[in-house]
Amino acid sequence: MKTYDIASIPGDGIGKEVVPAAIRVLQAAENVHGGLEFKFTEFPWSSEYYLEHNQMMPDDGLDTLKNFDAIFLGAIGNPEIVPDHISLWELLINIRRHFEQVINIRPARTFEGLSSKLANPKDFDLIVVRENSEGEYSEVGGTIYQGEDKIAIQNAIFSRKGTERAMNYAFALANQRGKKVTSATKSNGIYHSMPFWDDVFKDVSNPFPEIQTEQFHIDALAASFVTQPERFDVIVASNLFGDILTDIGAAIMGSVGIAPAANININGKYPSMFEPVHGSAPDIVGKDIANPIGQIWTAKMMLDHFGETDIGDQLLRAIETVIQKGVVTKDIGGKATTNEVTDEIIKQLRRA
Ligand code: NAI
Ligand code: MG
Repeated sequence: MKTYDIASIPGDGIGKEVVPAAIRVLQAAENVHGGLEFKFTEFPWSSEYYLEHNQMMPDDGLDTLKNFDAIFLGAIGNPEIVPDHISLWELLINIRRHFEQVINIRPARTFEGLSSKLANPKDFDLIVVRENSEGEYSEVGGTIYQGEDKIAIQNAIFSRKGTERAMNYAFALANQRGKKVTSATKSNGIYHSMPFWDDVFKDVSNPFPEIQTEQFHIDALAASFVTQPERFDVIVASNLFGDILTDIGAAIMGSVGIAPAANININGKYPSMFEPVHGSAPDIVGKDIANPIGQIWTAKMMLDHFGETDIGDQLLRAIETVIQKGVVTKDIGGKATTNEVTDEIIKQLRRA
């Protein structure tokens, strides 16, 4: 029996609806596969926890989490009770940084039977490798003066180590996939960091002559995600550019409700964290219409990370079948509830 110890943090809003749904699917996967056990330990860390304790997680929260095989997270954020920058930095970004989850990967692809916002989408299947530890998301900088004299300075950090790490990951992934890497740059406008980014890209690509490379300025790349997503395979991007591109990726798939993501620790010292792209969706909370597919596909990425790719692939096929049958939530044109979609995925998984 192989046992995986997983820390689950449902978080806020629909996180508390889709995480239990995905856990049900994983428990069904145990039975389908045999020889596998997923042990979940739930932590209530969220905006509500903050109201009670004045912090997003206890002082020893990171110590507690570090012994798990993975962290399975829903969504964090309830701006009505805690400002977003506090909830995000104290929990999510805190975990990403301390556990050296330096790579964020987010796939986007077409599904048969799923209508995209694009008028005539060709088949696309891409994955964004986002640098997850530095870049534009930094605490370096400050403010000075008050009122109309106030000045804010925000520094972006680009280290050779961090940039190479993200790019090497992208090339390794492209080697297993479509043999193409696109670099998201903006070296025509950003004077220091992006020409540096381009130089590192050239250096990292040298040992991979069989992989096709190209670079796009981020503005043109964002437009091409909409007009011709089928031309892309692996895209490597800085923290901010990757964040924006992956929301476009989710939108052209059909809904942010189906987009998965993984924060990967590549040195094996700490657990990786798996969380869908979407947030806590306060506008639909409690209505039983949250799409569970983003969280369930995220569970598939966790299975892949464990090396359990057979059951991961079966799970993805179950999701494909359920989308094809149209047993889906309102955001992608269906009438099913969160639990009906989940039950149908479990049914298909048992059939696989
Ligand atoms: P959001 O992703 O929560 O919602 C955007 C829109 O997509 C809403 O109309 C929502 O109803 C819809 N949506 C999202 N997930 C869905 C699902 N599974 N099924 C159906 N529809 C879905 O983004 P928003 O509104 O900007 O942020 C809400 C809160 O979530 C904020 O506090 C924000 O900071 C937080 N957030 C947290 C993230 C995380 O924990 N990783 C990521 C993004 C936002
Ligand atoms: Mg985002």
